[in-house]
Amino acid sequence: MNMSCKLQAQTAWASEYQKQGIPSSFRKEPTGALVEFMNWLEEKKIQGTFAADLGCGRGRNSFYLASKGFSVIALDLLQENVDTIHKEAKLSHLPIQAFAQDVSTNWPIEPNSLDLAIDIFCYKHIVNKQAQTTYRQECWKALKPDGFYFLSLASIDDGFYGPLLQNSPCPEEKLIIDPHAHIASYLYSLADLSEEFSDRFTLIKASENTSQSPMHGKEYTRKVLNCIWQKRAEC
Ligand SMILES: C[S@@+](CC[C@H](N)C(=O)[O-])C[C@H]1O[C@@H](n2cnc3c(N)ncnc32)[C@H](O)[C@@H]1O
Repeated sequence: MNMSCKLQAQTAWASEYQKQGIPSSFRKEPTGALVEFMNWLEEKKIQGTFAADLGCGRGRNSFYLASKGFSVIALDLLQENVDTIHKEAKLSHLPIQAFAQDVSTNWPIEPNSLDLAIDIFCYKHIVNKQAQTTYRQECWKALKPDGFYFLSLASIDDGFYGPLLQNSPCPEEKLIIDPHAHIASYLYSLADLSEEFSDRFTLIKASENTSQSPMHGKEYTRKVLNCIWQKRAEC
């Protein structure tokens, strides 16, 4: 992301965290999809010690991962989110290190070190295809061989974001702009995601979850794609 896009995104996200129109801006509990993913790992007896939370926001999911025994590295565009996480991590004595970092540039993470990486509604907001490619390369590089990557984002059929496609500034990329938060994102079908990630990751499990949830003060039927990927050995 270039400097002016980064500044624009930081300003829009800082304003969103003030207004708290998107559930992740105010929720303290971890996202349900992540809890299901952790249950899946437990069922499969898959263990790990080091995880990354990409676009961690105020850290609700980082704290959950840390409570499950992971050392967590949490990355977010906003310095104020990083400061909030550090304060809480110190108070709760949980092993979370947060960094103000654009995840579409080089990550401050050792190659082949992560057992898992999670992205809850961040990837979709990187609205530049080259920047997304860099993100996927960084993710691939940071994961251990066979490491897991969990991605959660709004489906193209989502009740809030889906209809915004009618006013898309770039329909071929499924680019939409949230008219309340003035934040851009891409919408995905499972087929789109599979195509985008298949060069570096194997899709292990995918689901579309439906729920009722507020966006900017109004209830919508939300449709969210949740995908478990595993790092490919070669690419
Ligand atoms: C919808 S919020 C989700 C926050 C968190 N994952 C959660 O579920 O609570 C998206 C977050 O991604 C961050 N973000 C957006 N683009 C980013 C980028 N290029 N690099 C790092 N963080 C980014 C924003 O600052 C924001 O905190």
